[in-house]
Amino acid sequence: MKIKFQALSNKNFADCIKLKEMLFPESNSNIDYDKYFHKEIDCEYFVVYYKNIPCAITGYYDFDGKHENAFMGWFGVHPDFRKMGIGSKVFDFTFNLVKKRKYKYFRLYTDKKVNQDSVRLYIKKSMIQEPYTYPDKLGKNGNFVVFTKIIKSNGCDLWNNIALNEDENYNL
Ligand SMILES: CC(C)(COP(=O)(O)OP(=O)(O)OC[C@H]1O[C@@H](n2cnc3c(N)ncnc32)[C@H](O)[C@@H]1OP(=O)(O)O)[C@@H](O)C(=O)NCCC(=O)NCCS
Repeated sequence: MKIKFQALSNKNFADCIKLKEMLFPESNSNIDYDKYFHKEIDCEYFVVYYKNIPCAITGYYDFDGKHENAFMGWFGVHPDFRKMGIGSKVFDFTFNLVKKRKYKYFRLYTDKKVNQDSVRLYIKKSMIQEPYTYPDKLGKNGNFVVFTKIIKSNGCDLWNNIALNEDENYNL
C-alpha cells in the first residue's frame, strides 16, 4: 500500500483533528498541536494519506528541550485501514525521522490495556517496556507504560518514572 506523509499544516489540520478525536476519545486537549503551530517546542506532526484518504496520524515532540528524548505523539491508524502494514510503516517513518534529527532516545507512553494492538507493535519493533508509576493521574491509573528505543545511549536508557506532565491532556 502506497501511503503519503503530509506535514501538518492549516490545510490538513481538520483531517488530523478528526482522526485524533476518533483514535483518542479520552484525550481532551489539542495543546500539542498548538505548540507545533506556534513553534513553542521542537516537534513535527504528519497526516498520512492513502489515495487522498486520511488514514493515519503521527508525530514526535522533544520532551524537555534538551534534544535527547523524542516522544512519539498522537500515532494511530484509522480502523478501516488497520492490519495492512500501515501502522508498521508509520512507526518506522517516525522513528527514522527522530534518528535523522539526532535524538538519543525514541520513546512513547501508552495505556497497555486500552491500546493492546500498539503494545504488540512496539514489542515487535524491539522497544524496551517499563511501567509508568509516577504518582500522577496517568501513573496512578496503573495501565500506563513507557516504551524506549535507544538511538545513541547517554547512559540513561530507561525512563525511570520521570513525570510525563500529561495529566491535563486526559480524562481518566
Ligand atoms: C496500533 C495501530 C497503530 C496499529 O496499526 P495497524 O495499521 O493495524 O498496524 P500493522 O498493520 O502494521 O500491524 C497490525 C497487525 O496486522 C498484521 N498485518 C500487517 N499487514 C498485514 C496484512 N497484509 N495482512 C494481514 N495482517 C497484516 C501485523 O502483523 C500485525 O499483527 P499483530 O497485531 O498480530 O502483531 C492501530 O491498531 C491503532 O491505531 N490503534 C489505536 C490507536 C493506538 O493505540 N495508537 C497508539 C497509541 S500509543
